[in-house]
Amino acid sequence: MRNAKIEVRPIAGTIGAEIHGVDISKTLDDATVGDIRKVLLDHCVIFFRDQSIDIPQHKAFARRFGEIFIHPNYKGTGPDPEIVGIRREPGDTKIVGEEWHADTTMSALPPMGAILYALEVPPYGGDTLFANQYQAYEALSDGMKKLISGLKAYHSDRKVAGPQANMNAHRSTKVREDADWKETVSLHPVVVTHPETGRKLLYVNHSYTTHFEGMTEAESKPLLNFLLEHGHRPEFTCRFRWEKGSIAFWDNRVCKHLAIHDAGPWRREMRRIQIAGVRPV
Ligand code: SIN
Repeated sequence: MRNAKIEVRPIAGTIGAEIHGVDISKTLDDATVGDIRKVLLDHCVIFFRDQSIDIPQHKAFARRFGEIFIHPNYKGTGPDPEIVGIRREPGDTKIVGEEWHADTTMSALPPMGAILYALEVPPYGGDTLFANQYQAYEALSDGMKKLISGLKAYHSDRKVAGPQANMNAHRSTKVREDADWKETVSLHPVVVTHPETGRKLLYVNHSYTTHFEGMTEAESKPLLNFLLEHGHRPEFTCRFRWEKGSIAFWDNRVCKHLAIHDAGPWRREMRRIQIAGVRPV
């Protein structure tokens, strides 16, 4: 039974809920952490408002859900490898996460989740969209489910990091672009079973998925593009409007997300911690 102090308010029909009645800066008891995990599993992404957390408190909260994941492409770009600072300054022509994606899926063991905390936000704009990939899978026809069952796809970070991605000239958040950077590629099933809920979901995304196993990129394109676009049909999504002190905690195993690039003349500054995950199967 859920802790009576916690209030859960869904923000859309199929994904996303705000949790009220929790102060993340405090050491939470096991029952509360269990409740938060349950709400995360039920709603795929959860949000908290009016929080005030410093870096140690942010890390302590993340560690209640697993080990901290060190992002290979941000390692060395800030003082603390466990923290990714996501900053958008007026004039930036690119931002982090502006395509639909799950985080870091080029890794063999992509993160299970991410906890993003808003330090400074625009008065309007700069929202984040999330899409439920259980719904995306379940809405496919039986014929399409059969076609993609057993199919695997390659995921690469060549579009989002390294010298060829050419991100750093256009945005304030820097990523590794040094000559020693090496592309990371992993092969993951197109249909994955969530390790905690046991539900099937669609596991491809714009930023990382390049092509299907045994096919060229050109051959993969029509089916891959269909699956990518299908995955963020409006009825599978929610939109989160940030305030200073808001937190979004997404289950990266089942969510895709997109940062909307519409902050115009405003600054936006966030702090992100990722939590380690397991091999998608
Ligand atoms: C991300 O893709 O992790 C960044 C999301 C955001 O800044 O809203």
